[in-house]
Amino acid sequence: MLKKNVSEQNKSNQSVPQHIAIIMDGNGRWAQARGKKRVMGHKAGMERAREMAEVCGELGVKYLTLFAFSSENWNRPKDEVSFLMELFATSLNNESKKLNKNNVKLTIVGDKDGFDSKLRKAIDKAEALTANNNGLYLQIAANYGGRWDIVQAAQALAVKGREITEQALQSELVTADGSEPDLLIRTGGEQRISNFLLWQAAYSELYFSDRLWPDFDGDALKGAIADFNQRQRRFGKTGEQVASESH
Ligand code: IPE
Ligand code: IPE
Ligand code: MG
Repeated sequence: MLKKNVSEQNKSNQSVPQHIAIIMDGNGRWAQARGKKRVMGHKAGMERAREMAEVCGELGVKYLTLFAFSSENWNRPKDEVSFLMELFATSLNNESKKLNKNNVKLTIVGDKDGFDSKLRKAIDKAEALTANNNGLYLQIAANYGGRWDIVQAAQALAVKGREITEQALQSELVTADGSEPDLLIRTGGEQRISNFLLWQAAYSELYFSDRLWPDFDGDALKGAIADFNQRQRRFGKTGEQVASESH
């Protein structure tokens, strides 16, 4: 599986990355800069997330993984957390039909046990509706932490009594098919991973944008992809080796 991923990633060195992951940061600052409440930034950010899924679908991206709520975001003020949970449930209910029509397969990756039953039901419904689609694979990371993901994968192996190897552990991560992001974008100016895909991002190309998430439009995404195309991915080899392989 690991070997296969590397070769898939080499192949995807065409114009469009196969898997894009985004840390959608900067909603609160975007709202505050407009004299609005932070939560209005989350609303605007949700619109951008929807647009990003559409653009990625049109571009032929296979996997889009969006970081919507981290394991640590529960530590925010109560009102903000409730608003985010409400927005999440409403968006699932409002968007899933359209996603289905667009052949998008939606999955929520993260610790779903942390959500209330109403939200869990909305998640199950949206996932079931889109389960057989084979267009864009949209993964929303919610109550997700990279450390949690690795621990839950190790626990799953322990329960099954399986040997712990890289391949086995990777196969238990919550992200689909052992897929790893080719391009990992973070908006909002911070240059850190904040406990996102710690395992899966081992060889992702990182792209940091100063734009706040609600300002990150399709053109900004295309800019990130253009930057990605300037990179040489070496996976531990020398530049000369990689160059000779691509001929
Ligand atoms: C990202 O935007 C969204 C979530 C973490 C839920 P922020 O809410 O972190 O926005 P800033 O970083 O405070 O501007
Ligand atoms: C990362 O943003 C999480 C999401 C975008 C969902 P944060 O705003 O929570 O990250 P830190 O706290 O600045 O590292
Ligand atoms: Mg932030």
